[in-house]
Amino acid sequence: MLDWSEPAAPSRQMPPTVVAQTIVVADQTGLGTIDRSGGRVSVDDKRMINCRADVNQLLPLKYKWAWEKYLAGCNNHWMPTEVSMQADIALWKSRDGLTEDERRAIKRNLGFFAASESLVANNIVLAIYRHLTNPECRQYLLRQSFEEAVHTHTFQYIVESLGLDEGELFNMYREVPSITDKAAWALKHTQHLDDPDFRTGTPEADQAFLRDLVAFYVIFEGMWFYTGFAQILSLGRRNKMVGIAEQYQYILRDESIHLNFGIDVINQIKIENPHLWTKAFQDEVRAMVREAAELEAAYGRDTMPRGFLGLNAALCESYMHFIANRRCAQLGLARVFDEAENPFPWMSEAMDLKKEKNFFETRVIEYQNGGALSWE
Ligand SMILES: [Fe+2]
Ligand SMILES: [Fe+2]
Repeated sequence: MLDWSEPAAPSRQMPPTVVAQTIVVADQTGLGTIDRSGGRVSVDDKRMINCRADVNQLLPLKYKWAWEKYLAGCNNHWMPTEVSMQADIALWKSRDGLTEDERRAIKRNLGFFAASESLVANNIVLAIYRHLTNPECRQYLLRQSFEEAVHTHTFQYIVESLGLDEGELFNMYREVPSITDKAAWALKHTQHLDDPDFRTGTPEADQAFLRDLVAFYVIFEGMWFYTGFAQILSLGRRNKMVGIAEQYQYILRDESIHLNFGIDVINQIKIENPHLWTKAFQDEVRAMVREAAELEAAYGRDTMPRGFLGLNAALCESYMHFIANRRCAQLGLARVFDEAENPFPWMSEAMDLKKEKNFFETRVIEYQNGGALSWE
């Protein structure tokens, strides 16, 4: 039974260290010199950013939502190799099972995701983890990083199964302009954060960190991935590429938690640092969301110049407007587009694997647990 209560232990914030007449906050990495005389961490000492309490002490928990997302992520464990690719291989190799437009959309979609999963993982590990000074959030980031590795593994498995040109697919983010434009747009928000000299602690630096969280959690994972899921799941609904569609359902389930974690992180930083969430900054975030939706519309036109049954660039653009407004609402911002209808209402059902577990005749997978381990 988990105990959420705070222990009655003595509490004292770690003292600032004086270095060359500059006051710096105590170690935020968790890898600094051990403070032998420091008191035990109290819940009240914990902060999302710029925290002075020891980041190596998970307990007592302050942000239960972060711990619950870690547990939910663990409960959703899956591996791409458990999904059969036989039907996809037969369809991909068949002469007339897929139209040229469908093949183009599938390849570009896979190319976008193949590199994007790595970009997201690198941003977590090399930029976000360093500056999020809370152990329960870091616990979730460690779980999320593994999930991003599983997602990258998925694209390796698809390339191998279908016999695709790996160089073509993994280089699309460099060679296909509509994909490069999205990756470059997101990267500009993280590039200075992995600079070893970058520190949070000033309003400018803290806002730069918030911009990175918006760019990767809200936009990359929360907007662009969603149109990508809709494209493949729309084909899956027509019984095409059902193996990839099943894998995308699992990825979508993971990503919906990644997105909600990012939204919770941003909203909690806002609560603790209201001075960062100025009117000018809110306008900037809304402009980022609008710009990202325009980049996605250009990608949609490039990926589906003519469209096919149930899917075309105009529908994807409407879906992006619907999603963009929703993300703004989740951040407490006014919507950026006119009230938009959701052209893919089935997406919310595709996300609920429990309810829809027979949607693609998904197998129920039992994972080895501690009781089932064999040492022989
Ligand atoms: Fe992912
Ligand atoms: Fe993700």
